[in-house]
Amino acid sequence: MKKLKLAVLQNEVADDHLLWIHACEERTDRIDWEVIDITRADWLERIRSGAFDGLLAAPPGWTTPFRVLYDERINILNTVCGIPVYPCLEEIQIYENKKNLSYWLMATRIPHPKTWVFYYEPEALEFLQKAAIPLVGKTSIGGGGSGVHILKSRAEAVNYVQNTFSSKGATLQVGPKWRKKGFIGRVIKKLLHPQEFKAKLQQYKFQRAEVQKDFVILQEYIPHDYEWRCVRIGDSFFAHKKIKKGDKASGSLLKGYENPPMRLLDFIKDVTGRRHFLSQSVDLFETADGRYLVNEMQCIFGQSDPYQMLVNGQPGRYRQLDGEWVFEPGDFNRHESFLLRLDHFLEILSEKQLEVLA
Ligand SMILES: Nc1ncnc2c1ncn2[C@@H]1O[C@H](COP(=O)(O)OP(=O)(O)O)[C@@H](O)[C@H]1O
Ligand SMILES: [Mg+2]
Repeated sequence: MKKLKLAVLQNEVADDHLLWIHACEERTDRIDWEVIDITRADWLERIRSGAFDGLLAAPPGWTTPFRVLYDERINILNTVCGIPVYPCLEEIQIYENKKNLSYWLMATRIPHPKTWVFYYEPEALEFLQKAAIPLVGKTSIGGGGSGVHILKSRAEAVNYVQNTFSSKGATLQVGPKWRKKGFIGRVIKKLLHPQEFKAKLQQYKFQRAEVQKDFVILQEYIPHDYEWRCVRIGDSFFAHKKIKKGDKASGSLLKGYENPPMRLLDFIKDVTGRRHFLSQSVDLFETADGRYLVNEMQCIFGQSDPYQMLVNGQPGRYRQLDGEWVFEPGDFNRHESFLLRLDHFLEILSEKQLEVLA
């Protein structure tokens, strides 16, 4: 079969697309690829003249203007020009956009912490008069817990709403995290790699400029000691626990590797299958009465270990074979799972090629 031609889409963050390239380098027998910077003025011309079979996307998550740029341009490329993109458009549109994700979770009727988005200050303040406390205030963008505030009293919640709608706005708390596991080690590593250190400083600068003041996001508080981090890429499933440190499980880097319950895998299959998603991490809370509530969904996500799960100390994945969940030991998360994503995309594109030939 003819080699496929793919575009690796580069965004405004240096090196954000590198893992796609590392994955592509392992599949030179099946693909050719080119890197295209989607943030440049000539983005559409370059994609058109490349005549690509598919686009490998890594949406950015630092600031709203570049998130909007990405969503607009991917929409044109995928919907209007008809070029397949991985992850799919809808997955990209809810990525690092807690506001849009909350609409999506409501519309799909997937269980999640109740979330309210207010564009009018008086409406939000009125809501606060009767709302159950604590509440959680979130910025739409900003990972690692940087935009999340636990509002423990009504006064604190009122203050948060007023600040958000004032000229101050809701800002991200960014900077080196000494509470996170391995702080000293990370500092030494950054100092030994000046490029990485520079990139981190640039990221903080970008993120500090991010202010949200047009709307406020409030969420029901869900007591928890951990979040499940579940991953589905194609028909491979993984899950591990992220253990809470202080108020937040996100960004703690404390992992709990244990065999996940099979009903968790069923739940993830349902959540990701509703809209035929391709590649997702789903972070969720487990309530005291055993319900799963989806907190976050991300088509691209960090991976700090070489695997996504361990079962009896062995890395591997779960797949559903003839209706049964079967654990298969093996190395399925190379290049932070980008190789698994690429193989999934190649499978989809090859099926398309065959359809055209038929
Ligand atoms: N509704 C909630 N109730 C209680 N704690 C929450 C809630 N939402 C988030 N948290 C805590 O804050 C952390 C960060 O929030 P999250 O929504 O995951 O944002 P992000 O990871 O993008 O910063 C979570 O890992 C969780 O521990
Ligand atoms: Mg999170």
